[in-house]
Amino acid sequence: MIDPKVACHPTICYRPIRPSDLLILEQLHAELFPIRYESEFFQNVVNSRDIVSWGAVDCSRPDGQSDELIGFVTARIVMARESEVCPRSSWDAPNPKWIADLLSYDSSKSDQTLVYILTLGVLESYRNLGIASSLIHEVMKYSSSIPTCRAVYLHVISYNNPAIHLYKKMSFKCVRRLHGFYLISGQHYDSYLFVYYVNGGRSPCSPVELLTIVVSYMRRGLSSLAARLRKNEEKVPRWLKCKETRCLLTTQSRRNLKTERNGFECV
Ligand SMILES: CC(C)(COP(=O)(O)OP(=O)(O)OC[C@H]1O[C@@H](n2cnc3c(N)ncnc32)[C@H](O)[C@@H]1OP(=O)(O)O)[C@@H](O)C(=O)NCCC(=O)NCCS
Repeated sequence: MIDPKVACHPTICYRPIRPSDLLILEQLHAELFPIRYESEFFQNVVNSRDIVSWGAVDCSRPDGQSDELIGFVTARIVMARESEVCPRSSWDAPNPKWIADLLSYDSSKSDQTLVYILTLGVLESYRNLGIASSLIHEVMKYSSSIPTCRAVYLHVISYNNPAIHLYKKMSFKCVRRLHGFYLISGQHYDSYLFVYYVNGGRSPCSPVELLTIVVSYMRRGLSSLAARLRKNEEKVPRWLKCKETRCLLTTQSRRNLKTERNGFECV
């Protein structure tokens, strides 16, 4: 097979995944992931049932392959309020309760949604051409266009350095390490949870952030108190002067009273 990086620059086009992609989509998943996906998952992807997807094809490919998938991303919309939903199978979005914990989730806004990236992959010979970045970009754009959507999130196995590098580059925030999240061939592996906030979504404050806010609030409070005290200090001597003057006045002769009073009123 000709390496598209060595050959001329391939012309990559992006489009939704459709029923005719079923076979190649299954092959790519089997080739790229250590997890087996159920056929129901592929059916849902190609028929856009509860799943949104984008495929990448090399339009400059010869031999009728110009419409064959060389990359893909699949994602699902989840309701942030479905905090009791448990994963039914490997391709289900994990318990959104974790995610609600990671968002400043307002339960009164019960229509808040999240987009969970289920799978992302690029054929080996097409890697490092920015294809996965473009696919993620599509997901970000799509999520931002949903007014109720607050974040895009995903899991990545802890040893997948190319993917971790990619998500960091795309401004995803690594918010948690989940111990033993994946079970592959009887062995547990940790995963990282990455989140990209959209439409004003944000994470709740971490203890450190909370402490920073409290300290800066107290600092502001103290400096405004100090400013008020300073103001009062300026007034105090004048007030004291008045008092003193008043005291003095009582001891002063009637003759001086008028002049002292004038001075007193001016204070
Ligand atoms: C992860 C994957 C989708 C990236 O696809 P891609 O099209 O090559 O991604 P991009 O070209 O957009 O970006 C790749 C970035 O990773 C970097 N990268 C590649 N290999 C790397 C490695 N071993 N360690 C660190 N970074 C690496 C590239 O340099 C590039 O970053 P740069 O733009 O700063 O140079 C692809 O490697 C893949 O399909 N892997 C197998 C399936 C998989 O792991 N999917 C993700 C599951 S969470």
